[in-house]
Amino acid sequence: MDNPEQEHNAAVPAVQPVTVEVDAFENDSAYGDEISNFTASMTTSAVDYRNENGRRYHAFRDGRYLIPNDEPEKQRLDALHMLYRTLTGGRLFLSPLPPTINRVLDLGTGTGSWAIDFADEFPSTEVWGNDLSPIQPDWIPPNVRFVIDDFEDEWLYGHRKFDFIHARYLAVSCKDFPRLIRRCYEHTVPGGYVEFQDWDSTVYSQDGSTDGTSIKHYYDVIRPAFDKAGVECSPGTKLEGWFRDAGFEDIHVEKLFIPLGGWPKDETLKAVGFLNLIQATKTGFEATALAVLTRNEGWAPETVADLCAQATRDVWNPSIHALFDFYIVYGRKPA
Ligand SMILES: C[S@@+](CC[C@H](N)C(=O)[O-])C[C@H]1O[C@@H](n2cnc3c(N)ncnc32)[C@H](O)[C@@H]1O
Repeated sequence: MDNPEQEHNAAVPAVQPVTVEVDAFENDSAYGDEISNFTASMTTSAVDYRNENGRRYHAFRDGRYLIPNDEPEKQRLDALHMLYRTLTGGRLFLSPLPPTINRVLDLGTGTGSWAIDFADEFPSTEVWGNDLSPIQPDWIPPNVRFVIDDFEDEWLYGHRKFDFIHARYLAVSCKDFPRLIRRCYEHTVPGGYVEFQDWDSTVYSQDGSTDGTSIKHYYDVIRPAFDKAGVECSPGTKLEGWFRDAGFEDIHVEKLFIPLGGWPKDETLKAVGFLNLIQATKTGFEATALAVLTRNEGWAPETVADLCAQATRDVWNPSIHALFDFYIVYGRKPA
C-alpha cells in the first residue's frame, strides 16, 4: 500500500495515505415545495407529505425511507454533494465512460445535484433521476428528467437500456442491494457501466481516539436499529461482491477516507472533514436517527435529541479523529 508520508492528491483518490495525519492544532480546545419536472404521472399523493416530530418525510410509498425530505435535508444533501466532489477532485464518476453516452440513470437522485451536474457536462446525454420525493429544482438542464419511482419495484423505463447507471449514498435506503445491482445489470446496454458510491457507516479512528466517545455510541445505537428495519446501512464494503455476483466484469474498487471534523493535516481531507462535520451537525445526526429510533424503537424524540447533542459535542473536539470509509465501485456489463 502507499507510503503513509505521501501527500494526498485529490485528483487521484487511489493514492490516499493509509494513515491520515492530524493537523497541529489538534490540542486546541475547539475549532471554532417545489414540484419538479416530473414526467411520471404526478399525483397529489406524492406531495401529501408526512410531518412528524418537526421533520417532513416522503409520501409516495410512505414509510419506505426513514430520512426526511424537507429543506434542511435538501441543504444537507447538497453539502454532501460538495463533499463528494471535493473528495474525488471534482469528478462525478470514475467509470471510463466513452465521450458519447446516450442515456444515464441516477438512482435515488435526492435533490438531483449529481444528475444536473452530469447533464451540464454531457449536454447531449438524456439523464434520468428517480426518487420517492419530488424535491428536485424546477430550473434544470433540458436533458434531465426526474421521475417519482421506487427503485426497489419493477423499473418502468420502456425497452431502452442505459449506457450508465449511477447510485450514490443509498445506505439506509435500500433493502435488497444484490437485487438492485442485478436490475442495474439487466437495464444496462452491453459494454455499459454501473457505478455505486457508498459508505461504510462504521465510525473508527486510526489512533483509538473514538473509543468510548458519544460519536461511536451514536453509530452503535443507530446501526442495529437500521438492521432491524431491514435496510442496509454499510453497503460500501459489500459492493464489489454484489457487482461480481451480478455478472459485471472489469470491476474497479476505490476505497477513500471521509474524516468527521477538520482534524486532518492534508488540505483536501481537512475540507472534506469540515463538510462532513457540517452535514452531520446540521442536521445529519438528527435526520438519520429520528424516525428509525422513534417509529421503530419506541424512543422519545427528546431522547434522540440528547443522543445527537452528545455526538455533536464530540464532533467539535479536534482530538477525536473520527473517520469513515467510502467506496466507489464500478463494473462493465460484458459486450
Ligand atoms: C441519502 S439520499 C442520497 C441522494 C443522492 N443520491 C445524493 O447522493 O445526493 C437517498 C435518496 O434515495 C431516495 N430513496 C430512498 N429509497 C428509495 C426508493 N426505494 N426508491 C427511490 N428513491 C429512494 C431518498 O428519497 C433520498 O432522496
